[in-house]
Amino acid sequence: MPAKSMDELVSLCKRRGFIFQSGDIYGGVQGLYDYGPLGVELKNNLKAAWWRSMVYERDDVEGLDAAILTHRLALKYSGHEATFSDPMVDCRSCKARWRADHLDGKCPGCGSTDLTDPRPFNLMFKTTVGPVDDGASYAYLRPETAQAIFTNFRHVVDATSRRPPFGIAQIGKAFRNEITPRNFIFRVREFEQMELEFFVEPGTDEDWHKFWVDARVSWWQAQGIPADRLELLYVPADELAHYSKATVDIMYRFPHGLEELEGVANRTDFDLGSHTKGQDELTLTAKVEPNRDSNTRLAIQDTDSKQWLVPFVIEPSAGVDRGVLAVLNEAYRVEELDNGSSRTVLALARHLAPIKVAVLPLKRNHEGIVETARQIKQNLQKLGLGRILYEHTGNIGKGYRRHDEVGTPICVTVDFETLEGEQTVTVRDRDSMTQQRVPLAELTAFVRDYFAESR
Ligand code: GLY
Repeated sequence: MPAKSMDELVSLCKRRGFIFQSGDIYGGVQGLYDYGPLGVELKNNLKAAWWRSMVYERDDVEGLDAAILTHRLALKYSGHEATFSDPMVDCRSCKARWRADHLDGKCPGCGSTDLTDPRPFNLMFKTTVGPVDDGASYAYLRPETAQAIFTNFRHVVDATSRRPPFGIAQIGKAFRNEITPRNFIFRVREFEQMELEFFVEPGTDEDWHKFWVDARVSWWQAQGIPADRLELLYVPADELAHYSKATVDIMYRFPHGLEELEGVANRTDFDLGSHTKGQDELTLTAKVEPNRDSNTRLAIQDTDSKQWLVPFVIEPSAGVDRGVLAVLNEAYRVEELDNGSSRTVLALARHLAPIKVAVLPLKRNHEGIVETARQIKQNLQKLGLGRILYEHTGNIGKGYRRHDEVGTPICVTVDFETLEGEQTVTVRDRDSMTQQRVPLAELTAFVRDYFAESR
């Protein structure tokens, strides 16, 4: 059973150090969150799983890490300057501003019906570049990571000799000045995206679109989200983004309702066509604004016919923060135990767990036990699985409960039997709560095998 409410998750996240309201000591800023000691691990693990699956486990994808501050012209020709806006109305009575599509004729703040007509409000953050704020030297904080993939297309192709079908993957921050950020880390002003732009020959795009929808659904399942908690939404034509021919949204049952976790869009040749030099010499299917500023042709030349081809783009675009919220929600459960008590467990997939193994010495003040526990921590850390925690707790039962609540898959307890005789440790499993004794000499192999299959 996932969490009963968003409040349950928000409370756990704050209490255990996953996620904090940003700027909390000054009253906080709406739509901004900070990831704490465990949140940063979970988030990094989710991003690493994506990168592994999208880049390392494929032979047709390259990576990129581009600047966040984005050339104004990139976001002009991308269409974001003109179209990336929400229609807003102002209440003349209380001066509040609202999204027009969230209103039913009255101000939700004061109830007044004295509202302005809807006006577009651009969602991009603008900032001055250089020391002079003359209104002309500005850049945008990118509203999607995708654009730098398109503007770097030629560089990547020249550096790697790739030809379609191939992709460029990127993970990074994006920014949107949402008027009404809400639902914890679901809709925020600063967030992270995991985006793949996959370049294909026109005509093969619809098959690739299906391929990527299926691939992405499978990947979310491997992150611990069962199929029956996901739904596919074929976005209606009148709701498509300006660049899209077809979009399938992968929807997840968040605590606040069924909402988009990831979008998989067929962006056609809109983006490369919009940013390319020499548009007139290319055959483009998308309607693009004339571009007289680009100095680079963003196309591939066919080696036989010498024709220039502008690839179509299939884009699986996932929100990291939404992903964190989904896996947390899915993993959260409160279990009734046989002895009448209950425990809170985060049954996270092993590769996502913020702490992989907690090493607990039975006695805090026994030199041999403490030293052995520290040594075990150092040895396990070398496996490169992620964070191994040495915990000087002294109370093993409480330690197990605390690690259940933050999703630590196994705890290793060092006691007197570790120092004597067969030299074993207790390995306690989060999900089954079973305990087994494992010889110290076999512990590293045991832990390596335990985490081997989870990705
Ligand atoms: N790149 C797609 C999006 O940001 O929604």
